[in-house]
Amino acid sequence: MKLDITKVTPFVGQDTISSYQVRATEALKTLEEGTCPGNDFLGWLHLPSSLTPEFLNEIKAVAQTLRQECEAVVVAGIGGSYLGAKAVIEALSNSFQWLQDKSGNPTILFAGNNIGEDYLFELTEYLKGKRFGVINISKSGTTTETALAFRLLKKQCEQQRGKETARKVIVAITDARRGAARTCADKEGYKSFIIPDNVGGRFSVLTPVGLLPIAVAGFDIDQLVRGAQQMEAAGTLATQYAATRYALYQEGKKIEILANYQPKLHFMAEWWKQLYGESEGKDGKGIFPASVDLTTDLHSMGQWIQEGERTIFETVISVETPEHTLLFPADEENLDGLNFLACRRVDEVNKMAELGTQLAHVDGGVPNIHISIERLDAYNLGQLIYFFELACGLYCQLLGVNAFNQPGVEAYKKNMFALLGKPGYEKETEAIKARLA
Ligand code: PA5
Repeated sequence: MKLDITKVTPFVGQDTISSYQVRATEALKTLEEGTCPGNDFLGWLHLPSSLTPEFLNEIKAVAQTLRQECEAVVVAGIGGSYLGAKAVIEALSNSFQWLQDKSGNPTILFAGNNIGEDYLFELTEYLKGKRFGVINISKSGTTTETALAFRLLKKQCEQQRGKETARKVIVAITDARRGAARTCADKEGYKSFIIPDNVGGRFSVLTPVGLLPIAVAGFDIDQLVRGAQQMEAAGTLATQYAATRYALYQEGKKIEILANYQPKLHFMAEWWKQLYGESEGKDGKGIFPASVDLTTDLHSMGQWIQEGERTIFETVISVETPEHTLLFPADEENLDGLNFLACRRVDEVNKMAELGTQLAHVDGGVPNIHISIERLDAYNLGQLIYFFELACGLYCQLLGVNAFNQPGVEAYKKNMFALLGKPGYEKETEAIKARLA
């Protein structure tokens, strides 16, 4: 993986970035020593190197059972209990696999990340008559969206496959002791994995939270972990990214747009937004993490990026080599005037679009951070994941916020429970009804 910040220095001096990088390196020490805010949630820091082959084999064995027993597996989870697996599976899958379905892999579906009635209805319809299994993921074991979806899926799985088989194809990934998901898993005798106490949801993709669904989808979790291990051993890139973001934020760049030129990276950006948004957006501070898929969004958000309010900077994830080769054909008539591209790779056009856009955006006052990975494979994704996690932990210390809590997420839950009349929320129900009257 390479990080290039040369298109930032016209906006913020290299000296400024270097001085913040010194602070980021000090922040790395406090992470290592466990003396930073939220230090009971630092289990992710050396997670890659702590994963043993035995543990990975256990995950692969459970994945194999689900692959054998199920034509579809529904992953129930939200936020950090969903986005990492979704991001990696999308990035590594054939874009049209869901149409072809000839890979021999079970179809991986996601639920519990919304409360859309139509979504859940259509999902349960799709699953009718199918040999499906469920991976129920919730660290707290009490998250409403996930618990609601799981209740529906558990019932349907038991009805369709019988209680005994359902027990074999439902897996829980949750806390060791607390929460309804743990109680249910223990009572029903489900196979379960533990989310370590000291790893928060958005830092949990390299625990069974991400690893099991990724393995069920048929991807190489050893390579994913190896990539993360490599990045764990080399912290410099993360300190540079953290320092650059912080320098830009100090210059009034309040929005970071993560851009990709490969549609398969769409959900990596969603994962990244959650990691950064939930970690740094507190105490009235924090960069707003946004994302675009390019060149698609050059025809929607491109105008804003080029000429809108100059409070943004852009971070591009670029994939050096595509997995496949496709050349534009020559055409005798050349009615579309595209013969100048005949026999050239699609990726060459994409790369020139990327370079042209980068130069245009920099000319338009948008600083540009450039991250490139060699290919879109499990190893490189592992690197990228750990890089972003570490940089997030470092940057939040520069900003002076606790990266590992999310007190703001409770506000909507309190109101929702009060509105739904959840037992224990009587006072809040009264207050909210009075407010709405
Ligand atoms: O990053 C986080 O901590 C959150 O996004 C959680 O992952 C999310 O709220 C889901 O929580 P849980 O796993 O407890 O259901």
